[in-house]
Amino acid sequence: MAEEKKRKSGSSKNDQSQFLCENLTFAGKEAFKRLRTNLQFCFTDTEGCGVVGITSSHPAEGKTVTAINLAYSMAQLNKKVLLIDADMRRASIDSKLNMNPKPGLSNLLTETNSAAGALREYIPKDDSFGFNVLLSGDVPPNPSELLNSPRMARLLEMLKTKFDYIVIDLPPVGAVSDAQTISKLVDGMLVVIRENHTSKYILNECITQLNLTNSRIFGFVINGSIAGASKSSSYGKYGPYNSNYGYSNYYSSKKEER
Ligand SMILES: Nc1ncnc2c1ncn2[C@@H]1O[C@H](COP(=O)(O)OP(=O)(O)OP(=O)(O)O)[C@@H](O)[C@H]1O
Ligand SMILES: [Mg+2]
Repeated sequence: MAEEKKRKSGSSKNDQSQFLCENLTFAGKEAFKRLRTNLQFCFTDTEGCGVVGITSSHPAEGKTVTAINLAYSMAQLNKKVLLIDADMRRASIDSKLNMNPKPGLSNLLTETNSAAGALREYIPKDDSFGFNVLLSGDVPPNPSELLNSPRMARLLEMLKTKFDYIVIDLPPVGAVSDAQTISKLVDGMLVVIRENHTSKYILNECITQLNLTNSRIFGFVINGSIAGASKSSSYGKYGPYNSNYGYSNYYSSKKEER
């Protein structure tokens, strides 16, 4: 796997690095460590590599930042972690990590490229460890078909032999069927909810859709919770990821609803 140069955070035009990896606040990093620990309990039945899909009901709820920060947090345990950008329609891991998206997943699924050339290592600038990324590649006309293909299943099986954990960033369930399509290939899904953004009705619909495909929902990540965010935050109501990540188990949340 070719190693990417360490990059300087804050150098891209659309700088979102303040919400990512080493730039998270102490509380933000702690929240991801809790999420990581909870997730490890979800993998107790899994032999070998644990695979988790990250989705949500709406666009822009924080799936991609959650996927990146989760991969970073798992890599801190000295585990071999792969982050896959399977949101081939609105890929954004490349711009958030300031990397070239090609070659990536779509190229591996349509061309004869070897996976080695598409797997790259991301090492945050102040860290001595990092994680691997498989970016989206060229935008394909048929992302759902590609994700549903036997080639995708074979690729994931091969990647599972090389990593301890695989985190897959997906599109929202409400918009397209890609997340449901891939749910059969993962151990479980995390559903991101963004405070003051996610509608209860659409979230219910998202859960129904995932249940229809027998997806296992590991739990929910509450992103942008006002409770816990600093009042003096310069990032307004979302806060700079200051204690604003939560994690709740699907089954306990269901009980609360009753
Ligand atoms: N808690 C937060 N505080 C501040 N900004 C946030 C927070 N969560 C996400 N953002 C910002 O909101 C935007 C959307 O986040 P992100 O790209 O992770 O969402 P997404 O669910 O992956 O979106 P899409 O559906 O387009 O893939 C980004 O600009 C991100 O930096
Ligand atoms: Mg995204």
